[in-house]
Amino acid sequence: ARPIRIGRLVQMPSAGGRWTVAGWVRSLRVSGDVAFIVLNDGSTLAGLQLVLDRSRLPLFEEVCRIGTGAALRATGELVDSPAAGQRFELRVTELVQVGDAPADYPLQKKRHSFEYLRGIAHLRPRTTTYGAVFRLRSRLAQAIHRFFEERDFLWLHAPIITASDCEGAGELFRVTTLPPNGAPRNDGGEIDFSRDFFGRKTGLTVSGQLEAELFAQAFGNVYTFGPTFRAENSNTPRHAAEFWMIEPEMAFADLADVASLAEEFVRFLCRFALDSCPEEMTFFDRQIEPGLLARVRAVAEADFARMEYDEAIRHLERAPVSFQFPVQWGLDLQTEHERYLTETVVGGPLFVLNYPREIKAFYMRRNDDGRTVAAMDLLVPKVGEIIGGSQREERLDRLTERMAELEMDQAALWWYLDSRRWGSTPHAGFGLGFERLLMYLSGMENIRDVIPFPRTPRHAEF
Ligand code: 4AD
Ligand code: MG
Repeated sequence: ARPIRIGRLVQMPSAGGRWTVAGWVRSLRVSGDVAFIVLNDGSTLAGLQLVLDRSRLPLFEEVCRIGTGAALRATGELVDSPAAGQRFELRVTELVQVGDAPADYPLQKKRHSFEYLRGIAHLRPRTTTYGAVFRLRSRLAQAIHRFFEERDFLWLHAPIITASDCEGAGELFRVTTLPPNGAPRNDGGEIDFSRDFFGRKTGLTVSGQLEAELFAQAFGNVYTFGPTFRAENSNTPRHAAEFWMIEPEMAFADLADVASLAEEFVRFLCRFALDSCPEEMTFFDRQIEPGLLARVRAVAEADFARMEYDEAIRHLERAPVSFQFPVQWGLDLQTEHERYLTETVVGGPLFVLNYPREIKAFYMRRNDDGRTVAAMDLLVPKVGEIIGGSQREERLDRLTERMAELEMDQAALWWYLDSRRWGSTPHAGFGLGFERLLMYLSGMENIRDVIPFPRTPRHAEF
């Protein structure tokens, strides 16, 4: 019979029945004529305790030598457990070692540092912490689709290879075409990256927004959810070269509409995490960030604060703390500023609205004051910015004026400008960094620890 998932077994209403489970050994302890093995198959936090009795298992001596990390298949009876902290255990009558794990298995039953575990990204999903993180990640991804599906948003699969650099920050990874017999080399013997993608200059997408805008002008409400790439060589705990972004875009909508959507979305995801991953969230609360459950519950219920950029700057100028980076109207907010505003000034999530146009992307809608654009960032304690969004400049003349100021190639974006020529509407959208959200919900402090195989300047081996 196919093994039952341990996560299902430990949720059974009562003990009883004969079951087969399969998984990896977390620990083994022998006490006289009984061996105890904690087995986990990745479906649940604590795993299942197997109880092996010398009198029932002919190869008991061999069982006692099974290593941590070995793969086992076990059949037995589900009984109530006398031990604290677990409802059931499996009294094993048949045991097959499917895969051995010699004593040099890198995961032993002790606390390993996250730094050590990052170096063994192929094995760390077997640990309790990463197991919890990646189950949360998977379930949240499903919840994101559910949120938009329930609200009639169309899911757009935006291209990954694209010729447009949406954010215009020069953070593009170039895509080149190489001949089948290997990379062309220049005189210095190095790979020649000047070859382009079938004669066109392309890169990996930094955002699906421009494409989402086009689809919003046909379907009304759309969203993208996919990988995004940025060649920023920033070794921070919040930046990765490859991350996932969720980008809703709504036609016939303004900045306030899209801020409301963002608020509803984040609250929905907080509630979902609490309801659908109670085991994992409780674990994060105990082991990663004390007070996390109360914090996430509060966010799920709260009305998010809103503040104009002007006001944010005034708060920062008055702050009784000294910042590393300067504070001045016209400058972008740094993480330390974002954290001060959310942690000290409001004590929760905060929308900052209407930023100076000089520090924001070309596509944002110019406000009547002439010096700001209809931009919004959602900032949260500890993580800082998790959402960036805006109302888009839907007026062709304003848009081309801004592109000219920035000396942008308008011919290359002819298709984008077309969307302002025919049936243009006020529209707005935002991008939520999926990993930043995961950090916020799990309390994990490094983005490398919420990505299965992180792509950062130092981690791209796997
Ligand atoms: O603020 P950003 O750059 O906005 C955009 O890309 C817009 N086109 C979104 C839109 O309006 N449709 O990025 C959006 C979010 C950030 O708030 C952050 O959460 C995340 O994406 N993000 C990153 N996450 C991890 N690593 C990086 N290098 C990131 N850069 C941005
Ligand atoms: Mg941003």
